[in-house]
Amino acid sequence: MNIQWYPGHMTKAKRAMKEDIKLIDLIIELVDARVPLSSRNPDIDELGAGKSRIVLLNKSDLGDEKYNNAWAKYFQERGCYVIKVDSRNKGTLKQIGGLVQEACREKIERDRRRGIMNRPVRAMVVGIPNVGKSTFINSFAGKACAKTGNKPGVTKGNQWIRLNKTLELLDTPGILWPRFEDQQVGLRLALIGSINDQILNKDELAMELIAFLKDHYPNALPERYDTEEKAEAAEILSQIAKNRGCLVKGGEPDFEKAARLLIDDFRSGRLGRITLEFPEE
Ligand code: G4P
Repeated sequence: MNIQWYPGHMTKAKRAMKEDIKLIDLIIELVDARVPLSSRNPDIDELGAGKSRIVLLNKSDLGDEKYNNAWAKYFQERGCYVIKVDSRNKGTLKQIGGLVQEACREKIERDRRRGIMNRPVRAMVVGIPNVGKSTFINSFAGKACAKTGNKPGVTKGNQWIRLNKTLELLDTPGILWPRFEDQQVGLRLALIGSINDQILNKDELAMELIAFLKDHYPNALPERYDTEEKAEAAEILSQIAKNRGCLVKGGEPDFEKAARLLIDDFRSGRLGRITLEFPEE
Protein backbone atom coordinates (compact mmCIF):
# COMPACT_ATOMS: atom_id res chain seq x y z
CA MET A 1 0.00 0.00 0.00
CA ASN A 2 1.39 3.35 -0.94
CA ILE A 3 0.46 5.97 1.61
CA GLN A 4 1.03 9.54 0.50
CA TRP A 5 0.97 11.92 3.39
CA TYR A 6 3.28 14.85 3.29
CA PRO A 7 2.85 17.73 5.72
CA GLY A 8 5.34 19.96 3.87
CA HIS A 9 7.27 23.00 5.14
CA MET A 10 9.40 20.71 7.23
CA THR A 11 12.63 22.65 7.16
CA LYS A 12 10.80 25.75 8.29
CA ALA A 13 8.93 23.81 10.94
CA LYS A 14 12.13 22.31 12.26
CA ARG A 15 13.75 25.73 12.49
CA ALA A 16 10.75 27.10 14.40
CA MET A 17 10.84 24.16 16.76
CA LYS A 18 14.56 24.70 17.37
CA GLU A 19 13.86 28.29 18.45
CA ASP A 20 11.10 27.19 20.81
CA ILE A 21 13.29 24.52 22.33
CA LYS A 22 15.88 27.15 23.25
CA LEU A 23 13.31 28.63 25.64
CA ILE A 24 12.70 25.50 27.65
CA ASP A 25 14.34 23.13 30.12
CA LEU A 26 12.22 20.06 29.56
CA ILE A 27 10.59 18.32 26.61
CA ILE A 28 7.44 16.37 27.36
CA GLU A 29 7.10 14.11 24.35
CA LEU A 30 3.88 12.23 23.72
CA VAL A 31 4.04 8.97 21.82
CA ASP A 32 1.21 6.54 21.10
CA ALA A 33 1.68 3.48 23.30
CA ARG A 34 0.46 1.20 20.49
CA VAL A 35 3.18 2.42 18.11
CA PRO A 36 5.78 4.22 20.22
CA LEU A 37 8.45 4.42 17.54
CA SER A 38 6.26 5.02 14.51
CA SER A 39 4.54 7.87 16.34
CA ARG A 40 7.87 9.55 17.12
CA ASN A 41 9.58 12.27 15.23
CA PRO A 42 12.93 11.12 13.82
CA ASP A 43 14.64 14.43 14.70
CA ILE A 44 13.47 14.77 18.28
CA ASP A 45 16.67 13.39 19.81
CA GLU A 46 18.75 15.89 17.88
CA LEU A 47 16.32 18.75 18.54
CA GLY A 48 16.17 17.91 22.22
CA ALA A 49 19.89 17.44 22.82
CA GLY A 50 20.89 18.84 26.22
CA LYS A 51 17.29 19.13 27.46
CA SER A 52 15.63 17.01 30.10
CA ARG A 53 13.23 14.53 28.57
CA ILE A 54 9.99 12.94 29.65
CA VAL A 55 8.25 10.48 27.35
CA LEU A 56 4.53 10.02 27.92
CA LEU A 57 3.30 6.67 26.64
CA ASN A 58 -0.11 8.09 25.85
CA LYS A 59 -3.22 6.03 25.05
CA SER A 60 -1.67 3.34 27.21
CA ASP A 61 -5.26 2.31 27.96
CA LEU A 62 -5.34 0.97 24.37
CA GLY A 63 -1.86 -0.62 24.40
CA ASP A 64 -1.08 -4.13 25.61
CA GLU A 65 0.14 -3.70 29.20
CA LYS A 66 3.00 -6.17 28.72
CA TYR A 67 4.37 -4.06 25.87
CA ASN A 68 3.57 -0.77 27.61
CA ASN A 69 6.01 -1.90 30.27
CA ALA A 70 8.58 -3.09 27.73
CA TRP A 71 8.41 0.27 25.95
CA ALA A 72 8.72 2.18 29.22
CA LYS A 73 11.93 0.27 29.85
CA TYR A 74 13.12 0.95 26.30
CA PHE A 75 12.85 4.72 26.70
CA GLN A 76 14.29 4.67 30.22
CA GLU A 77 17.34 2.87 28.90
CA ARG A 78 17.75 5.75 26.44
CA GLY A 79 17.91 8.43 29.10
CA CYS A 80 14.26 9.51 29.21
CA TYR A 81 11.91 9.56 32.16
CA VAL A 82 8.79 7.66 31.21
CA ILE A 83 5.23 7.38 32.39
CA LYS A 84 2.24 5.47 31.03
CA VAL A 85 -0.82 7.68 30.76
CA ASP A 86 -4.35 8.01 29.46
CA SER A 87 -4.52 11.75 28.91
CA ARG A 88 -8.29 11.75 29.20
CA ASN A 89 -7.94 10.48 32.76
CA LYS A 90 -6.43 13.01 35.16
CA GLY A 91 -5.68 10.30 37.72
CA THR A 92 -3.01 8.85 35.44
CA LEU A 93 -1.23 12.22 35.27
CA LYS A 94 -0.66 12.63 39.00
CA GLN A 95 2.89 11.37 39.01
CA ILE A 96 4.08 13.83 36.41
CA GLY A 97 4.83 16.66 38.85
CA GLY A 98 7.28 14.48 40.76
CA LEU A 99 8.79 13.18 37.56
CA VAL A 100 9.40 16.73 36.29
CA GLN A 101 11.32 17.54 39.46
CA GLU A 102 13.37 14.38 39.07
CA ALA A 103 14.04 14.91 35.36
CA CYS A 104 15.17 18.50 36.01
CA ARG A 105 17.05 17.89 39.25
CA GLU A 106 20.39 18.95 37.73
CA LYS A 107 19.00 22.24 36.46
CA ILE A 108 17.29 22.96 39.77
CA GLU A 109 20.55 22.30 41.65
CA ARG A 110 22.55 24.41 39.21
CA ASP A 111 20.12 27.28 39.75
CA ARG A 112 20.42 26.90 43.49
CA ARG A 113 24.23 27.04 43.38
CA ARG A 114 23.94 30.31 41.47
CA GLY A 115 21.57 31.70 44.06
CA ILE A 116 18.51 31.41 41.82
CA MET A 117 15.74 30.01 43.95
CA ASN A 118 12.37 28.75 42.82
CA ARG A 119 12.70 29.47 39.13
CA PRO A 120 10.02 27.32 37.54
CA VAL A 121 10.94 24.58 35.11
CA ARG A 122 9.82 25.56 31.62
CA ALA A 123 8.46 22.71 29.55
CA MET A 124 7.07 22.14 26.10
CA VAL A 125 4.71 19.41 24.99
CA VAL A 126 5.57 17.88 21.63
CA GLY A 127 4.24 15.10 19.44
CA ILE A 128 2.83 14.17 16.06
CA PRO A 129 -0.76 15.11 15.12
CA ASN A 130 -3.53 13.20 16.91
CA VAL A 131 -1.23 11.69 19.54
CA GLY A 132 -3.18 13.54 22.25
CA LYS A 133 -1.27 16.77 22.94
CA SER A 134 -4.29 19.03 23.44
CA THR A 135 -6.10 16.41 25.48
CA PHE A 136 -3.02 16.10 27.68
CA ILE A 137 -2.53 19.85 28.13
CA ASN A 138 -6.21 20.33 28.92
CA SER A 139 -6.19 17.55 31.52
CA PHE A 140 -2.84 18.49 32.98
CA ALA A 141 -3.26 22.27 33.03
CA GLY A 142 -6.92 22.00 33.94
CA LYS A 143 -8.43 24.38 31.44
CA ALA A 144 -8.93 24.64 27.70
CA CYS A 145 -5.60 26.22 26.94
CA ALA A 146 -4.14 23.98 24.27
CA LYS A 147 -4.68 25.57 20.92
CA THR A 148 -3.62 23.34 18.10
CA GLY A 149 -1.91 24.74 15.06
CA ASN A 150 -2.54 22.87 11.87
CA LYS A 151 1.03 22.65 10.68
CA PRO A 152 3.94 20.76 12.19
CA GLY A 153 6.27 22.92 14.21
CA VAL A 154 4.00 25.94 14.26
CA THR A 155 3.71 27.66 17.58
CA LYS A 156 1.81 30.87 17.86
CA GLY A 157 2.30 33.14 20.79
CA ASN A 158 4.88 31.71 23.18
CA GLN A 159 2.64 32.34 26.14
CA TRP A 160 3.37 30.41 29.26
CA ILE A 161 0.80 28.54 31.25
CA ARG A 162 1.79 28.66 34.89
CA LEU A 163 0.79 25.37 36.42
CA ASN A 164 2.22 25.99 39.84
CA LYS A 165 5.30 27.53 41.46
CA THR A 166 7.57 24.95 39.94
CA LEU A 167 6.33 24.42 36.40
CA GLU A 168 5.37 26.47 33.35
CA LEU A 169 4.22 25.06 30.03
CA LEU A 170 4.55 26.69 26.65
CA ASP A 171 0.91 27.33 25.72
CA THR A 172 0.95 25.71 22.29
CA PRO A 173 2.22 22.20 21.74
CA GLY A 174 4.98 21.57 19.23
CA ILE A 175 3.55 19.58 16.37
CA LEU A 176 6.04 17.19 14.86
CA TRP A 177 5.94 15.01 11.80
CA PRO A 178 6.44 11.24 11.82
CA ARG A 179 8.74 9.22 9.52
CA PHE A 180 5.97 8.94 6.96
CA GLU A 181 8.36 8.05 4.14
CA ASP A 182 8.72 4.59 5.71
CA GLN A 183 5.79 2.47 4.47
CA GLN A 184 5.67 0.32 7.59
CA VAL A 185 5.40 3.45 9.72
CA GLY A 186 2.70 4.78 7.38
CA LEU A 187 0.73 1.58 7.74
CA ARG A 188 0.88 1.63 11.54
CA LEU A 189 -0.12 5.29 11.69
CA ALA A 190 -2.98 4.55 9.33
CA LEU A 191 -4.16 1.74 11.57
CA ILE A 192 -4.28 3.93 14.67
CA GLY A 193 -6.11 6.63 12.71
CA SER A 194 -3.35 9.24 12.49
CA ILE A 195 -3.53 9.55 8.73
CA ASN A 196 -6.50 11.05 6.95
CA ASP A 197 -8.80 8.11 6.26
CA GLN A 198 -9.99 9.45 2.95
CA ILE A 199 -6.67 8.70 1.29
CA LEU A 200 -6.60 5.11 2.46
CA ASN A 201 -7.85 1.89 1.02
CA LYS A 202 -9.77 0.48 3.98
CA ASP A 203 -9.99 -3.09 2.64
CA GLU A 204 -6.24 -3.28 2.29
CA LEU A 205 -5.73 -1.75 5.70
CA ALA A 206 -8.14 -4.27 7.22
CA MET A 207 -6.30 -7.17 5.57
CA GLU A 208 -3.01 -5.91 7.00
CA LEU A 209 -4.59 -5.70 10.44
CA ILE A 210 -6.03 -9.21 10.14
CA ALA A 211 -2.62 -10.60 9.11
CA PHE A 212 -0.97 -8.87 12.08
CA LEU A 213 -3.59 -10.08 14.54
CA LYS A 214 -3.36 -13.66 13.28
CA ASP A 215 0.35 -13.60 14.09
CA HIS A 216 0.34 -11.71 17.37
CA TYR A 217 -3.16 -11.77 18.88
CA PRO A 218 -4.71 -14.95 17.42
CA ASN A 219 -7.73 -14.90 19.77
CA ALA A 220 -8.79 -11.32 19.15
CA LEU A 221 -10.82 -11.91 15.97
CA PRO A 222 -12.37 -15.30 16.79
CA GLU A 223 -13.50 -13.93 20.17
CA ARG A 224 -15.17 -10.84 18.79
CA TYR A 225 -16.48 -12.03 15.42
CA ASP A 226 -16.52 -15.79 15.69
CA THR A 227 -14.13 -16.15 12.76
CA GLU A 228 -11.87 -19.10 12.09
CA GLU A 229 -8.41 -18.61 13.52
CA LYS A 230 -6.52 -20.30 10.70
CA ALA A 231 -8.42 -18.93 7.68
CA GLU A 232 -6.76 -16.62 5.14
CA ALA A 233 -7.09 -12.87 5.74
CA ALA A 234 -9.60 -12.35 2.88
CA GLU A 235 -11.72 -15.24 4.13
CA ILE A 236 -11.66 -13.80 7.65
CA LEU A 237 -12.86 -10.42 6.37
CA SER A 238 -15.63 -12.22 4.52
CA GLN A 239 -16.59 -14.08 7.72
CA ILE A 240 -16.65 -10.81 9.67
CA ALA A 241 -18.97 -9.37 7.01
CA LYS A 242 -21.31 -12.36 7.16
CA ASN A 243 -21.32 -12.69 10.95
CA ARG A 244 -21.99 -8.98 11.41
CA GLY A 245 -24.57 -8.59 8.66
CA CYS A 246 -22.40 -6.41 6.45
CA LEU A 247 -23.94 -7.52 3.16
CA VAL A 248 -24.69 -5.95 -0.17
CA LYS A 249 -27.83 -6.68 -2.21
CA GLY A 250 -27.99 -10.37 -3.05
CA GLY A 251 -26.42 -11.33 0.26
CA GLU A 252 -22.79 -10.99 -0.83
CA PRO A 253 -20.32 -9.72 1.80
CA ASP A 254 -19.77 -5.96 1.89
CA PHE A 255 -16.01 -5.96 2.33
CA GLU A 256 -15.70 -2.22 2.71
CA LYS A 257 -18.28 -2.02 5.47
CA ALA A 258 -16.70 -4.99 7.28
CA ALA A 259 -13.28 -3.37 6.93
CA ARG A 260 -14.57 -0.13 8.47
CA LEU A 261 -16.20 -2.02 11.32
CA LEU A 262 -13.01 -3.96 12.05
CA ILE A 263 -10.79 -0.88 11.96
CA ASP A 264 -13.14 1.13 14.16
CA ASP A 265 -13.31 -1.73 16.65
CA PHE A 266 -9.52 -1.90 16.73
CA ARG A 267 -9.05 1.86 17.16
CA SER A 268 -11.50 2.13 19.99
CA GLY A 269 -10.09 -0.84 21.89
CA ARG A 270 -13.06 -3.15 21.33
CA LEU A 271 -10.71 -5.88 20.08
CA GLY A 272 -8.79 -5.64 23.35
CA ARG A 273 -5.57 -3.86 24.22
CA ILE A 274 -3.28 -4.33 21.25
CA THR A 275 0.22 -3.04 20.55
CA LEU A 276 1.34 -2.93 16.92
CA GLU A 277 5.11 -2.71 17.34
CA PHE A 278 7.52 -4.24 19.78
CA PRO A 279 10.83 -3.03 21.18
CA GLU A 280 12.68 -6.22 20.24
CA GLU A 281 11.93 -5.77 16.52
P1 G4P B 1 -3.46 16.30 19.23
O1 G4P B 1 -3.71 17.56 20.00
O2 G4P B 1 -2.12 15.71 19.52
O3 G4P B 1 -3.69 16.44 17.76
O4 G4P B 1 -4.50 15.19 19.72
P2 G4P B 1 -5.88 15.35 20.52
O5 G4P B 1 -5.62 15.83 21.92
O6 G4P B 1 -6.85 16.12 19.70
O7 G4P B 1 -6.36 13.82 20.64
C1 G4P B 1 -6.70 13.05 19.51
C2 G4P B 1 -7.72 11.99 19.89
O8 G4P B 1 -7.12 11.06 20.80
C3 G4P B 1 -8.94 12.54 20.63
O9 G4P B 1 -10.05 11.75 20.25
C4 G4P B 1 -8.65 12.24 22.09
O10 G4P B 1 -9.80 12.10 22.87
C5 G4P B 1 -7.94 10.92 21.97
N1 G4P B 1 -7.03 10.67 23.11
C6 G4P B 1 -6.08 11.51 23.60
N2 G4P B 1 -5.41 10.93 24.60
C7 G4P B 1 -5.94 9.68 24.76
C8 G4P B 1 -5.64 8.57 25.62
O11 G4P B 1 -4.71 8.60 26.46
N3 G4P B 1 -6.39 7.45 25.45
C9 G4P B 1 -7.37 7.37 24.52
N4 G4P B 1 -8.05 6.21 24.43
N5 G4P B 1 -7.68 8.38 23.68
C10 G4P B 1 -6.97 9.52 23.80
P3 G4P B 1 -11.29 12.37 19.56
O12 G4P B 1 -11.36 13.83 19.78
O13 G4P B 1 -12.45 11.54 19.88
O14 G4P B 1 -10.89 12.20 18.11
P4 G4P B 1 -11.08 10.88 17.32
O15 G4P B 1 -11.18 9.75 18.28
O16 G4P B 1 -12.35 11.15 16.58
O17 G4P B 1 -9.88 10.80 16.45
